[in-house]
Amino acid sequence: MIYNVHFAYDEGKPVLEAINLTVPHGSAIAIVGPTGAGKTTLINLLNRFYDVNQGSITINRTDIRDMELTSLRSSLGVVLQEPFFFATTIRENLLYGNQNATEEEMIEAARLANASHFISRLPKGYDTVLTERGLNISQGERQLLGITRAILRNPSILILDEATSNIDSLIEAQIQKAMIILMKGRTSLTIAHRLSTIKNADRIIVIHNHRIIEEGTYPELIEKNGFYAHLYAMQQTRENITEDMFK
Ligand SMILES: Nc1ncnc2c1ncn2[C@@H]1O[C@H](COP(=O)(O)OP(=O)(O)O)[C@@H](O)[C@H]1O
Ligand SMILES: [Mg+2]
Repeated sequence: MIYNVHFAYDEGKPVLEAINLTVPHGSAIAIVGPTGAGKTTLINLLNRFYDVNQGSITINRTDIRDMELTSLRSSLGVVLQEPFFFATTIRENLLYGNQNATEEEMIEAARLANASHFISRLPKGYDTVLTERGLNISQGERQLLGITRAILRNPSILILDEATSNIDSLIEAQIQKAMIILMKGRTSLTIAHRLSTIKNADRIIVIHNHRIIEEGTYPELIEKNGFYAHLYAMQQTRENITEDMFK
């Protein structure tokens, strides 16, 4: 639960103000808003990369500042737009999510995440050594590995920062499917660009000018014909209709 959270990276330049959000167990929440609205910042606060200036964030009634950092982060499965990789093999990068996982569990997770196709096409498969930040594979492939790692971790709360750019539509469709599998039966918070994520969300939170300005289900927000409905209409014109492929 996020209660009256205020945050600024630099004093006097608020990024988030009076953010209130209750996330029921097992629900899928989508967060939308223009670039720079503070969506990723909210995720940074949940992970305690930064602490709130005012207000609090609790998980099962415990303030995250009172939790061990390792136990907080192990309960969160985070798939970032740009997942973090070590300059080592794909296998080691995947097992970083869960050191106790077996080879079979890793392969099964990669299969569920639709990552096994591209891994098996690599000459060295799981033994392929990634360069720093995984720059020798595509952004879409890095996201599939990020999702595989999250499946292996089996976290109680999933946090996804969806990538939109530089991803070919085949990989995008695979990512979409993998995310649906990953989100099933879990509490999730997704920074959502894809229409399918937004449509399936239990609640959509719209952040603009540091605040939550609208919230509701997709039909409710379209019906309201407010900020989200306009943002969405603009995006559709710009991004064309690729998202319709995933309906
Ligand atoms: N590490 C940082 N230091 C200072 N300002 C930052 C930092 N990260 C983000 N910001 C600023 O905070 C605001 C919100 O950024 P961000 O949360 O990344 O937005 P979004 O994810 O919604 O696009 C932006 O104005 C951005 O420039
Ligand atoms: Mg962001």
